[in-house]
Amino acid sequence: MTTRIVLLALLAVALAAPDAAAQGSINVICSVQQEWCTLIAATFQKETGIRVAITQKGSGEALAQVAAEKTNPKLDVWFGGTGDPHLQAAEQDLTQPYKSKHLAELHPWAQRQAEMSGHKTVGIYAGALGFGYNTELLAKKKLPAPACWKDLLRPELRDDIQMANPNSSGTAYTAIATLVQLMGEDQAFAYLKDLHKNISAYPKSGVGPVKAAARGETAVSVSFIHDVPGEALAGFPVKSATPCEGTGYEIGSLSIVKGARNLKDAKTFVDWALTPSAQKLGAEAKQYQLPSHKATPVHALVPDLSKIKLIEYDFVKYGKSAERRRLIGRWDREIGSQPR
Ligand code: G6P
Repeated sequence: MTTRIVLLALLAVALAAPDAAAQGSINVICSVQQEWCTLIAATFQKETGIRVAITQKGSGEALAQVAAEKTNPKLDVWFGGTGDPHLQAAEQDLTQPYKSKHLAELHPWAQRQAEMSGHKTVGIYAGALGFGYNTELLAKKKLPAPACWKDLLRPELRDDIQMANPNSSGTAYTAIATLVQLMGEDQAFAYLKDLHKNISAYPKSGVGPVKAAARGETAVSVSFIHDVPGEALAGFPVKSATPCEGTGYEIGSLSIVKGARNLKDAKTFVDWALTPSAQKLGAEAKQYQLPSHKATPVHALVPDLSKIKLIEYDFVKYGKSAERRRLIGRWDREIGSQPR
């Protein structure tokens, strides 16, 4: 073979095998549970040829990483996690405006999340806060299921409740902001102080407490109730309840990082993630939030939000960075650092 033929043959091979650089790749930080993160990465990659490197971190931790990398962003997309930290990232100019072509097809609450942030984020799911509880442990203690926030203060539940740490977990921040909105701030902190006596641990991740309740390591958890059916399906004796006084909710969100090196592919990912076929993957990964696209089928295990006493959660106020810093600072000082 002459050199020319060899070169032509090599060129033909190069053209036939799509090379990775030409296909593109994105770096995604993902704040839902690992199984869903892995499934979206694999499916998006299969459907588009764009490679996805995905890492899982809680909402508070993901916000901290995006902020730390501000001058040298390594991430392109932040998928999922509670909405307030996404709003805080938008306010700190850490994320990039993008109006997906699917925006008008989303539920009004998801569109509102986008409008509130100057289109730097968008809602991908919603879910209500409540309790998870281990039915066997409560039966052993002869206690009824917790039905109200005040039930969590029962002395019989001493050292038998878990709530996540609000520094790392968006779930826990949602819980604090919810209590402040329900009771007023000083009352809410008095409540959290009383609750502290019954808390055995404040795990890093929002799903830590419900996983502990499912496995019989704690009787009750403060959790998003859509995290409970997955544990029950896995065979654990766990059920959920929502508080009689009312409760807050999250608008799980999706943002493109400002300065993303793979902006075009990041936009392709956001468009894809807002479609019903991509949103269906949540339930396939046994995660039962309410999807934001109106045409996404709603799985039978998704809690019916219209039957829950939801507060008018003030996303504008609690989505502000100063408010987050202040409330978490107060929690650290008055609750988290105190002996139990
Ligand atoms: C779970 C829930 C999500 C929520 C996330 C927040 O994965 O299913 O709906 O957004 O927790 O995680 P975090 O660790 O920040 O509380």
